[in-house]
Amino acid sequence: MNDLLFQEALQALPPVFREKHPVLAVQLGSGWQLPEGALKTVCEVSYADIPNLGGATVVSHAGTLRLCETASGARLLCWCGRRHWYEGCEWETVVMPAVLSHRLGCGTLLVTNAAGGIRPGLKPGDIVILKDHIRLSPLSPLRGPHNPAFGPRFPDQSAVYTPALRTLLHEAARCQGLELTEGVYVLSSGPTYETPAEIRAYGILGADLVGMSTVPEAMVASALGMQVAGVSFVSNLAAGISAEALDGNDVVDCARAHSGRLGRLLLDFIDRFTAAR
Ligand code: HPA
Repeated sequence: MNDLLFQEALQALPPVFREKHPVLAVQLGSGWQLPEGALKTVCEVSYADIPNLGGATVVSHAGTLRLCETASGARLLCWCGRRHWYEGCEWETVVMPAVLSHRLGCGTLLVTNAAGGIRPGLKPGDIVILKDHIRLSPLSPLRGPHNPAFGPRFPDQSAVYTPALRTLLHEAARCQGLELTEGVYVLSSGPTYETPAEIRAYGILGADLVGMSTVPEAMVASALGMQVAGVSFVSNLAAGISAEALDGNDVVDCARAHSGRLGRLLLDFIDRFTAAR
């Protein structure tokens, strides 16, 4: 990866971002948002004003970076929306939230997304904690000459999703009366949805969920030594599992209908995480 692109982005952030280490970075994917007014916003920057990141192009992705503070004074980075490889972005753009969070001194990243359900029994509205992922594509943001600033040459990926954070998510869900399961997420490059044959194959390979994001950021954050948690919101049944054709608008509508539950889970997790620090 080209380190200069991250350095330029970092320099463009207002100095308040460097005042105090954020304890947690949260990346909000399709349909995920924090309840309005739940956290104090210390500073907000549009992605469009961050060099080499650029404005979000996907409907329902706000495209703003918020520096937030909890009542106890803990700072958080909220990356509201993401850039995807299918938008034609460079890898540096896709993984910018993970790398910048790390450079700002943050040790933990929570990534969220909307995904198609593959595992029998999953239904729209379900929330699934990621226990692992499958990256079928040989593409990797870490390809290229080795730069130790991004971790070892061959980063271990045997526990990308930190068990203690998964436990904390389960506790938050229990407290909020939400049912959660765990699952394996497979990365699909997009922007097409998958074919029914692809979904059958992914299911045989052990995938429970399919989506077009999350894996690059999680891989890089893990290689950087960050603790990572991932949560998917099932916005639709994956191709061929129901007779319905897939439509991106349905994904957004489903996410909107469930945003209250997702926000409650996030806030409870944030409370528990910051209290434990
Ligand atoms: N496939 C890929 N990405 C997705 C899906 C899906 O079915 N739903 C939401 N994101």
